Amino acid sequence: MSDHVTIEDQPGGVRLIRLTRPEKKNALTGAMYDAMKASLEQADESGEVGAIVFAGVPGMFTAGNDIGDFVAGAQKPFTEAPALHFIRQLARTTTPMVAAVDGIAVGIGTTLTLHCDLVYASPAARFRMPFVELGLVPEAASSYLLPRRVGLLKATELLLLSEPFDADEALRLGLLNAVIPSEMLVEHALAKAAALAALPRGSLKASRALIRGDQADVAAALEAEAVAFEARLRAPEAQAAFMNFLLKSKPSRS
Ligand code: COA
Repeated sequence: MSDHVTIEDQPGGVRLIRLTRPEKKNALTGAMYDAMKASLEQADESGEVGAIVFAGVPGMFTAGNDIGDFVAGAQKPFTEAPALHFIRQLARTTTPMVAAVDGIAVGIGTTLTLHCDLVYASPAARFRMPFVELGLVPEAASSYLLPRRVGLLKATELLLLSEPFDADEALRLGLLNAVIPSEMLVEHALAKAAALAALPRGSLKASRALIRGDQADVAAALEAEAVAFEARLRAPEAQAAFMNFLLKSKPSRS
């Protein structure tokens, strides 16, 4: 488990997974990925959870993967990376997932939402996928999912140029269901999750599978990205980008 992920099961079968590492802008550590993966897996296995909500803390969804962990992870096989295990689980989870994005949503903070069934964000949401800028490649099947959602040219701007976008742009691009004021965001997401969880569960899961269609291409994209990601993690370009960021940070407190 992780002190930086809180998991709360609410009446009606809604599970709230909240990222709580505000001192590091909710950057995700291995322990946080492990906690989220276990929670998704348990939700699918137990049958007691009808829908899952991902949220951060006010003003912060997540600053993405912990960059210090990228440096440490480059020494180990990427197949052992908690981030990869989480991403694989995210793609195969059958329980509906809802995202509530307030503030920064960098890297996996954005790509995670591509796997969610419903996505809400506050006007303060700022999405960005700086993989290439960091010397990496896209992950979480974003290189496959994003062009299909927003078109090839827009996906190129977002994934190669790492262009940031706000909630209005995300709504326009079809990456959000609605923009909800910050103070109502999590309640709104929980209400939508409760509405999903109240539906006949078998029908819900079967319908969700039909809407999503064959997921083999998503799984294949995710694995191809993982191979490229591992190679890039070790490349001098990426190591230099990580060091550049870390030199500006104070020593990690966790
Ligand atoms: N990994 C590790 N630490 C991170 C982090 C990350 N992804 N994102 C933020 N932090 C840490 C900072 O190092 C800083 O730590 P410190 O106070 O000990 O020095 C703290 O969180 C606050 O971040 P800071 O950069 O001062 O906040 P900001 O409001 O000026 O900027 C961001 C916020 C998100 C724009 C900026 O932190 C950022 O660009 N983070 C990196 C995002 C990223 O590239 N993620 C990887 C995607 S693949």
